[in-house]
Amino acid sequence: MKTDLVGEKVILRPWKASDAPELVKMANASVTRWTTSLRIPKTVEEAVKNIRKKQRNFREGRVYSFAIVSRETGRLAGSIGLFKIDKENKNAEVGYWIRKDYWNKGLATEAVQLVLGFAFKNLKLHRVYARTFKENTASARVLEKAGFTKEGVDRECYRKNGRWHDLVRYGILKKEYDEKGPVSKG
Ligand SMILES: CC(C)(COP(=O)(O)OP(=O)(O)OC[C@H]1O[C@@H](n2cnc3c(N)ncnc32)[C@H](O)[C@@H]1OP(=O)(O)O)[C@@H](O)C(=O)NCCC(=O)NCCS
Repeated sequence: MKTDLVGEKVILRPWKASDAPELVKMANASVTRWTTSLRIPKTVEEAVKNIRKKQRNFREGRVYSFAIVSRETGRLAGSIGLFKIDKENKNAEVGYWIRKDYWNKGLATEAVQLVLGFAFKNLKLHRVYARTFKENTASARVLEKAGFTKEGVDRECYRKNGRWHDLVRYGILKKEYDEKGPVSKG
């Protein structure tokens, strides 16, 4: 399966063990503030373990995690993945983050668009969805730019830092992706 996804601003590729030191450096509270399942490793050993798990999951078709590499600098810029793969209903959830010093350059939008191509063309999925914290306007904007439709709010469905949060659900169907194509250059 072709696994490197090449855009104008970013390249998405499977994680390598040698990414571990850089992954640890990217650990930053502002990245995890509005994420659900993300755990950024704190030590290189933890990062290597985390990457090995990503590689295993990728091979087994359980979770498809990609490193986002900036084409401008050649450095790691973030992470994106398709998870909760429902093979019967051909659905998956997408999640992503970008290191803070690379925000607002259109990298997440292009990464999402590339992953949608992978989801619909390579994995032959029918629908991809994302859930964002209600307060996460930047992420909502990324999804809108990538052609997702706001589907609804899962009220107080997520507990983080001792309080309940609403998650907003966004979805895109294959036919919508095919019709609209890459909606924004970001
Ligand atoms: C959300 C996130 C991935 C966006 O990455 P990015 O590479 O900066 O995204 P893009 O540059 O493609 O697009 C960001 C858009 O949000 C807008 N934006 C940024 N901050 C904003 C804010 N506070 N309020 C409203 N809009 C905002 C930008 O202006 C841009 O929109 P525009 O192109 O119309 O100007 C990044 O901020 C991040 O990693 N956040 C922490 C982790 C996270 O929230 N992940 C998503 C979980 S679902």
